[in-house]
Amino acid sequence: MHYYNKALIIAGVLLAAVTASAQTSGGNAAARALKNPVAATPTSITAGAAAYKKYCAFCHGENAKGNGPLAPKDSNPSDLTDATWTSGSTDGEIFTTIANGTGPNSKMVGFKGKMPDQDIWHIVNFLRSLGPKAAGR
Ligand code: HEC
Repeated sequence: MHYYNKALIIAGVLLAAVTASAQTSGGNAAARALKNPVAATPTSITAGAAAYKKYCAFCHGENAKGNGPLAPKDSNPSDLTDATWTSGSTDGEIFTTIANGTGPNSKMVGFKGKMPDQDIWHIVNFLRSLGPKAAGR
C-alpha cells in the first residue's frame, strides 16, 4: 500500500509534466505502468457501479453510453462502453483519467481526493465489466 501510494504520486508528477509539455490525447507511459491493485471481483464491480452511479452517471449516462441527462451543454461525455479510449485504454490510464480529468478545457474534472483511490479502481473494474476488453491490460 505504501509503495503503491508512492508510485501514484510519481505517476501524478510525471503526468503533470507530460500534459504540460504536450496537450495530446492518448495516455502516457507513467499511467500505463500503473497496475490495478484491486481484483475485479463481483464485490469490486458492484462497488464500482454504485460509485459510478453517484459521481458519473449524470454526465456519462446510467448505461455509460455518454448520454447523461445533466451533462453540461456541448460537453460530449465519452461512451465508456465502446472500445475507444482516447485518453488511454489500460486500467492505469483509465484510473489516471478519472483521477486527474482530461485537461483544463474539459468538463471531465479529476476525482482524486473526492473519493478514495480504491473506489476509482472499483469504477475501472466496473467499466471493464461493461465493454469489450482492451488490449494491453
Ligand atoms: C460534468 C460531466 C462529467 C462527469 C461528472 C464525469 N465525466 Fe467523464 N468525461 C466527461 C467528458 C465531457 C469527457 C470527454 C473528454 C473530454 O471532454 O476531454 C469525459 C471523458 C471521460 C473518460 C475518457 C474516455 C476515453 O475515451 O478515454 C473517462 C474514462 C471518464 N470520462 C470517466 C468518468 C468517470 C468514471 C466519472 C465518474 C467518477 C466521470 N467520467 C465523470 C464528462 C464528465
